[in-house]
Amino acid sequence: MRHTITLIPGDGIGLEVSQSVQEIITAAGVDIHWEEASARGQIDRRATDVMQSPAVQSILKNRVALKGPLATAVATGPPSLNVQLRKALDLFANVRPVKNLAGVTSRYQDVNVVLIRENTEDLYAGLEHEVVPGVVESLKIITERASTRIARFAFEYARTWGRRRIHAIHKANIMKMSDGLFLTSIRKVAEQYPDIEYKELIIDNACMQMVLNPHQFDMLLLTNLYGDIMSDLAAGLVGGLGVVPSGNIGDQVAIFEAVHGTAPDITGKGIANPTALLMSAIMMLRHIRERDAAQMIESALHEVYVRGAHLTRDVGGNAGTREFTQAVIASLKEQPSNVRAGTR
Ligand code: NAI
Repeated sequence: MRHTITLIPGDGIGLEVSQSVQEIITAAGVDIHWEEASARGQIDRRATDVMQSPAVQSILKNRVALKGPLATAVATGPPSLNVQLRKALDLFANVRPVKNLAGVTSRYQDVNVVLIRENTEDLYAGLEHEVVPGVVESLKIITERASTRIARFAFEYARTWGRRRIHAIHKANIMKMSDGLFLTSIRKVAEQYPDIEYKELIIDNACMQMVLNPHQFDMLLLTNLYGDIMSDLAAGLVGGLGVVPSGNIGDQVAIFEAVHGTAPDITGKGIANPTALLMSAIMMLRHIRERDAAQMIESALHEVYVRGAHLTRDVGGNAGTREFTQAVIASLKEQPSNVRAGTR
């Protein structure tokens, strides 16, 4: 079956890693027509025009996109294009599976936790203003609707993927109204899923627990900002942002993207690691029901890491992006026929 998928290569190393991922998916035999939409310049930087941009129109038509990182200025400039895209397309759930990748040195082994982050509100609403010179105010928006929606998504995800336990992470002891509403909304949903164990943890304790003993966690459910921070913390436990994928899921469309940035320090040097975008593409293939191809690429990637001869520098090797890509493609060709035929 032929799929048409929007590709936003992104800035910086985005071009390098997205080309690598396209080559690997083609080598796996998946028939994808990539509708390329260069976000820079095509997504108008003014939020009011984002819906009319060719990139957003393409994603609305195709329903699925693969996206490289987009640069955002710090402490100045327009709002993040990443955040604009998530808002414009109502991609309310950010899903980040965090798992060890064989062959990657990390603080822990056998970590396997999925973070579900509410993606549309909280302090990320970006509603800030200057009250008087020298005093600014940022609004933390939490609604019952969005909290209930993300809770339902998380519990359904747990059922679909055989997960057993969800920890809701909050600071409702201090932000009694906002985080309090988040928690009470989740509790109501949790009652409808007696098969999934439900627990709560305060964010500061949760960070410490995650660093001390990540194995106790199966799924975490968080508001936008806590989710942003804790998912990077979790990634750090398994080797960093270069080896974890992510999906931004809405009712209508989904965007899969690597969680790292544009890596300006290594752009153009041919040493970027495509693994995170490739793992996001594997999530994407499962989303579009190309499960056999997803399994095959995952196995090929696993082999390359286990052998360790063609790894990029960020994970301790000497290979460049091209050499790594070729190694994954060669490994794809070596996959047993039962995997290649999709019977595993
Ligand atoms: P970054 O993730 O780009 O880089 C942090 C460090 O990790 C750098 O040393 C970089 O070389 C390394 N690194 C990242 N990805 C790598 C890869 N695939 N292979 C090898 N090494 C890799 O984070 P930074 O420097 O904070 O952000 C740079 C820009 O990216 C900013 O403009 C930021 O706003 C943007 N950004 C975009 C994201 C997105 O589009 N989802 C997410 C995070 C940052």
